[in-house]
Amino acid sequence: MDSFLLFRLGAKIMKKILVTGGAGFLGSHLCERLLERGDDVLCVDNFFTGTKQNVQHLLGNPRFELMRHDVTFPLYVEVDEIYNLACPASPIHYQHDPVQTTKTSVHGAINMLGLAKRLKAKILQASTSEVYGDPEVHPQPESYWGKVNPIGIRSCYDEGKRCAETLFFDYWRQHQLQIKVVRIFNTYGPRMHPNDGRVVSNFIVQALQGKDITLYGDGQQTRSFCYVDDLIEAMMRAMDTGSEFTGPVNIGNPVEFTIRELAELVIRKTGSQSRLINLPLPSDDPRQRKPDIALARDVLGWEPAVPLTEGLERTIKYFSDHLRTTA
Ligand SMILES: NC(=O)c1ccc[n+]([C@@H]2O[C@H](COP(=O)([O-])OP(=O)(O)OC[C@H]3O[C@@H](n4cnc5c(N)ncnc54)[C@H](O)[C@@H]3O)[C@@H](O)[C@H]2O)c1
Repeated sequence: MDSFLLFRLGAKIMKKILVTGGAGFLGSHLCERLLERGDDVLCVDNFFTGTKQNVQHLLGNPRFELMRHDVTFPLYVEVDEIYNLACPASPIHYQHDPVQTTKTSVHGAINMLGLAKRLKAKILQASTSEVYGDPEVHPQPESYWGKVNPIGIRSCYDEGKRCAETLFFDYWRQHQLQIKVVRIFNTYGPRMHPNDGRVVSNFIVQALQGKDITLYGDGQQTRSFCYVDDLIEAMMRAMDTGSEFTGPVNIGNPVEFTIRELAELVIRKTGSQSRLINLPLPSDDPRQRKPDIALARDVLGWEPAVPLTEGLERTIKYFSDHLRTTA
């Protein structure tokens, strides 16, 4: 029975959706939301940085399936839509095996695009604000091409993601594939890794453990922080746009904080006695990063709804439970 007939009969059209990197931080939230909406979800992950624990609560759902697979190898499954999130996202993890990081971005994109082409499926790429590198334009609109070092220690991630975007747009031009490219800015929330060096999780864990809070540089570099629920909402809206919309579209929270302000807020919210200490700035660390989300507002009718203070409270609660149970 075709989709139109099902629609006429008033039946709900359920989609089967592949989420690569589905056992990671963002992927696990996305799987959860898609299941809530009534879709079937196939979660594919090689568990490099993701864990079964992140999707444990979904395993009993008959519409959820978990598969161990590395996206650098071809995958043959039948789905209607693909969200391609597989890729380590924190510097500690993506610099652990930089060659594998580039392979995951580039071979992973080729394999998933090939699958989407065979299935005529819509495909969304989780790209990143890192494609802008150390930007000379502030805030960054999608039209800005970025300033990226091609041979530095962050290049495996930045250039891997840039190449993946190129592949997405070539598949769109050459094979008329329906693509969506979202550029994700700093996102935080429950199920972030406790020890991956990302600033929000780092500060919260240090504060909860009463350790010194490490500020790289003078702490005056700015970041914008998007709560995970807001991010997932925008991603799903991007996937649901019509074929005329490809992106790239920035998703993030444009409210800017200095890293020092974030550290002070975390100390207040946790009631910690931790001190702030300064360490040297790592190479290629951008001074400023803030999304221009005019396009997301316009096309997706979206803007972040969860303020940092509220998102931090939920994240602090997660980490304090997590640290208690894993102590
Ligand atoms: N969290 C952020 O702030 C942020 C910002 C920009 C972009 N992104 C992008 O969003 C996606 C998800 O990020 P995250 O924060 O959830 O990170 P994460 O590390 O928690 O999730 C990545 C997932 O991909 C899996 N993975 C890695 N290599 C794989 C491979 N070769 N085959 C199959 N699975 C593999 C990991 O095991 C993990 O489950 C990534 O593509 C990342 O680049 C995230």
